[in-house]
Amino acid sequence: MIPRIYRIERRTEEYPGAFTVHLAPNGEDVVSHDFSPGQFNMLYAFGAGEVAISMSGQALPGRSHTVHTIRTRGMVTSALARLREGEEIGVRGPFGSGWPLAEAANKELLVIAGGLGLAPLRPVIYHLLNQSKPRPIPRFRLFYGARRPEEMLYRSELEAWNREMEVQLSVDHADPSWHGNIGVITKPVSSADFDPKGCVAFLCGPEAMMRFSIQVLMERGVSPADIYISMERNMKCGTGLCGHCQWGPNFICKNGPVFRYSDVRNWLGIRAL
Ligand SMILES: Cc1cc2nc3c(=O)[nH]c(=O)nc-3n(C[C@H](O)[C@H](O)[C@H](O)COP(=O)(O)OP(=O)(O)OC[C@H]3O[C@@H](n4cnc5c(N)ncnc54)[C@H](O)[C@@H]3O)c2cc1C
Ligand code: FES
Repeated sequence: MIPRIYRIERRTEEYPGAFTVHLAPNGEDVVSHDFSPGQFNMLYAFGAGEVAISMSGQALPGRSHTVHTIRTRGMVTSALARLREGEEIGVRGPFGSGWPLAEAANKELLVIAGGLGLAPLRPVIYHLLNQSKPRPIPRFRLFYGARRPEEMLYRSELEAWNREMEVQLSVDHADPSWHGNIGVITKPVSSADFDPKGCVAFLCGPEAMMRFSIQVLMERGVSPADIYISMERNMKCGTGLCGHCQWGPNFICKNGPVFRYSDVRNWLGIRAL
């Protein structure tokens, strides 16, 4: 699959080292970019390389725009960070499986995110808030943890969401302006009032955070079959051909990145090479 050329229409700084880009197709080649929440694109910084980045915008049918939130890490993400509005990025995708929203029908959905892990879950929040009533997923809430208050993504949206749904925020290191929880996000999850037999959990964040959250959910009585995680491993082709992302019997790009925990629990302890 050859990258399509997109142009950075808008770029916003989330915090130093993390930014969101709104991409529009360049020129005549206007195509819709339909995707399911949880899927990702391969973004190509010309001359530097390609990286897997989740869609973080609204999954609206027929839209040609795509939105991504990126943290600067190595060579390719640094090259993407240097691009300004009007400059071009190559886009291949969408790839991978999305969050299984149908599994949460008539149940409570617990959305649990750590750090940049909120990016692939933001399309889920948009979906939940946009459902027409009576809502297929009647109850939902967000637990979101970050290292520091200034490292929380989408801060103005978090405030707006909190008016429409329960949002529990936690930071590892607070400052005097912080009035929310302090400590790891597993604390508010462990004390939250939910029916463990009538809920489904979607998790995304650092692997250690996901492992501890799974432990807490299972201690509360949530079945491993009702817990879904999004995995992040080295990728190259994004299409199941090169084997870079092999994880046990799965290719994360093709069979994931979203997996049911009970299907992959044996592989979660294996570190990325
Ligand atoms: C399904 C999926 C969704 C992702 N979504 C996001 C997102 O929304 N926002 C975001 O900031 N990051 C996301 N990542 C992580 C992002 O792909 C890596 O941070 C990025 O590849 C690091 O590349 P680099 O060029 O900065 O680092 P380098 O160290 O220069 O990496 C070189 C190459 O190694 C591979 N690589 C290295 N580390 C990783 C990694 N952790 N994961 C995957 N490939 C890696 C890539 O192919 C990259 O081109 C996602 C990863 C996956 C697999
Ligand atoms: S990235 Fe090539 S097989 Fe998954």
